[in-house]
Amino acid sequence: MASRSGFSSRIGFVAAAAGAAVGLGNIWRFPYETGENGGAVFLLIYLLCTVLIGFPVMLGEIAIGRSTSLNPYGAYKKIGGKRWALVGLFGVFCGVAILSFYNVVAGWAFGYFVQITFGGLLASDNFGGFFSSYIADFSDNMTYSLIFMVLTAFIVLRGVQSGIELASKILMPFLFILLFGLIIYALTLDNAMAGVNFYLLPDFSEVSFETVYSAMGQAFFSLSLGMGTLITYGSYLSKKENLVSAAGIVTAADVTVAFLAGLMIFPLVFSQNMEPTAGPGLVFVVLPAVFKSMGALGTVIGGTFFLLLSVAALTSTISLLEVPVAYVTDEHKVNRITTVIGLALLSFLVGVPSMLSQGGNEGLSEFITYGGETRAFMDMIEDLFLNVGLPLGGFLMSVFIATQWKTASLSAEIASGNSSYEGSMVQRFVNLMITFICPVVLGLIFVITVLQKFLGIQLPFL
Ligand code: TRP
Repeated sequence: MASRSGFSSRIGFVAAAAGAAVGLGNIWRFPYETGENGGAVFLLIYLLCTVLIGFPVMLGEIAIGRSTSLNPYGAYKKIGGKRWALVGLFGVFCGVAILSFYNVVAGWAFGYFVQITFGGLLASDNFGGFFSSYIADFSDNMTYSLIFMVLTAFIVLRGVQSGIELASKILMPFLFILLFGLIIYALTLDNAMAGVNFYLLPDFSEVSFETVYSAMGQAFFSLSLGMGTLITYGSYLSKKENLVSAAGIVTAADVTVAFLAGLMIFPLVFSQNMEPTAGPGLVFVVLPAVFKSMGALGTVIGGTFFLLLSVAALTSTISLLEVPVAYVTDEHKVNRITTVIGLALLSFLVGVPSMLSQGGNEGLSEFITYGGETRAFMDMIEDLFLNVGLPLGGFLMSVFIATQWKTASLSAEIASGNSSYEGSMVQRFVNLMITFICPVVLGLIFVITVLQKFLGIQLPFL
């Protein structure tokens, strides 16, 4: 095995794992999913999914990683044998698939930074129209997402410690500050309170099964769970570290940023008399209008915002690329440079159809019909790997811990670096969730989603 580097400290791990967690998922995807799924009620279900299911799954992943010091494939194989190794391999594939479309959206964010700062984007008087034609433009998308993938590969090449850790530690705090500033500004605008109400006062008539599985998919995506990212990051962690507090801090940081992003967006949406259901264009349409209203200062603030969003996305693409890289370097003894370049290129190419599916190419934009709706290629990838693949990965991991590794080994691993864990309430909670609640809930969600969403079978009681 190539020499395995490690994180320099728990702060390094937490910064890197929080960097992986915080990204487009929080600032781009969470607000529009919330807007499309009824507002506050979605927020509530999302929070429940995060605390009750996400947190225990995260602890499980980190513990498996640290215990085996291996990539997901190697880790599952070491504990559970060849058949279980397929679960790890599935995670590696999910990583490439998710990276492929994630990188496209990261390219949009990066392009917005460039266009606002240097291209006079804010002079437009139709940001909705601008966004639609922007994402349909192949050459721009191609350029920005290629630049983005090169940056990702470059940082991953520098290795865990100097690359990933550094990028996360230095740049993440800036994002927090800017979000806060924008929230305060948003709350001063006319009609802001309508946005706050939409976001914070649940309307339970809006709940459907789709709300639940969308919230679960979003929770897994946002926390970077279900495909072994945290197995990989955990494998670089020392035995002295307290995994419960590390997972707690990462979860809290992730939820906080998503929550704040919502608190920023909805007052802005309502103060501009826009619809919260605008979909993936939400932040790309609402925010430029706000920056424009700020005059010359808006160009600076807007540019900075999309730059920081790009940085947040970068610490996430790094984590997505690191998983297949760890797999190939650990298991196939290929050197790191070749592996990184090869996999970055592969993920970029797999992303090209997604890139073309936003209006650039008709066949890809209306690619496939299932569950009664015609969807773009990118939507299909999201449905398959994000909404179904990640929770399925979490389901398989909990079954794996319950039946193969056993909760005794899980507890022993978590207790290393946390001597009061055995016998604690947290332990009882984690064991109950991992052995019982997670498998049942995630298993049911998987079955019902496949029936309802993909096969279009409406279940009478949902
Ligand atoms: N969590 C990141 C975000 O919210 C995306 C991400 C990074 C991810 N690594 C992951 C999602 C691994 C799923 C699995 O933007």
